[in-house]
Amino acid sequence: MQTQTTTATTAGHITFDEVRRHSEGHRILTGDRPTGPLHLGHYFGTLKNRVDLQAAGVELLLVVADYQTLTDRDRAERPAEAAEDLVLDYLAAGVDPARATVFTHSSVPALNQLMLPFLSLVSVAELSRNPTVKDEIAHSSQAAVSGLMFTYPVHQAADILFCKATLVPVGRDQLPHLEVTRTIARRFNERYATELFPVPRPLLSDAPLLPGTDGGKMSKSRGNAIPLGATEDRTAKLIRGATTDASRHITYDPEARPGVSGLLQLAALCQDRDPAAVAAEIGDGGAAALKKYVTEAVNEYLRPIRARRAELAEDRALLRSVLTEGAERANAVADATLAEVRRAMGMR
Ligand code: TRP
Repeated sequence: MQTQTTTATTAGHITFDEVRRHSEGHRILTGDRPTGPLHLGHYFGTLKNRVDLQAAGVELLLVVADYQTLTDRDRAERPAEAAEDLVLDYLAAGVDPARATVFTHSSVPALNQLMLPFLSLVSVAELSRNPTVKDEIAHSSQAAVSGLMFTYPVHQAADILFCKATLVPVGRDQLPHLEVTRTIARRFNERYATELFPVPRPLLSDAPLLPGTDGGKMSKSRGNAIPLGATEDRTAKLIRGATTDASRHITYDPEARPGVSGLLQLAALCQDRDPAAVAAEIGDGGAAALKKYVTEAVNEYLRPIRARRAELAEDRALLRSVLTEGAERANAVADATLAEVRRAMGMR
């Protein structure tokens, strides 16, 4: 399992580089809500890392969190198609379905069964003070807050613990949820005098948050995202519309020039260069030259990903079969864990 060199930096965190260097004994579970196409923020924030870690030999499980989409809306929009679309983005980005287990919440009933004893391990007060949940309630368009809004972090604990994941690659907003999972793992082990659950650790991306075309955090809901699957023309248009400033001389200064710097960062990520070096190359070319440069960098980087995506998009049967096989594997593991949980609790 963990060696001394993979120990935490802060509060259980571990870096991607550390895991890449010591990949043995790790099992990674992470996932996404199927609520729309993935974008470059997802890609550089976590998708690319998942693919790299898989290539380094780490076991990868991805949950398509279809039940979780019901936390802040009354109904999921075409949930079956949305799940397949998420698989499409995963595969386009390079997830190898032969080695990864990709499954939906709704196809693994044991997750719901695990949730029940897990709910008994946390207090209402703990569930109510989760800052990510509070933030989601503040941004929800629903008339009333559902019970699922408060309890989904416990369902998420089932996602993570059913396969005894050791590492969970997440964004910072997910850290409170991971804390719930860690608490549940510890308390279950303690209460039932067992060592059934490893206490998983968050794996934060070392890439800085990628700004969107308005200089703010790239996010579907803000309309500032460049989708992985966008056409080259659409990409050019999105970048042309990006917020910059009036100074013709291009410099990398994230504090004072968030718009310009976000674009530089994007080009730098695509070309594996330093953003300041890109800025120096553009020099006095102004925003127009910068945008042209970034558009070319993004389109060139995404060309193979988009080609693969276009091909896979024609094969819905393949996308479905990835989920069917993933569900089979996930169900086998989840049923086994549920049996262990029942035994630990003294049930038959
Ligand atoms: N909550 C995550 C999100 O909104 C999705 C998710 C569901 C998840 N289950 C998970 C992430 C388990 C990590 C581990 O993006």
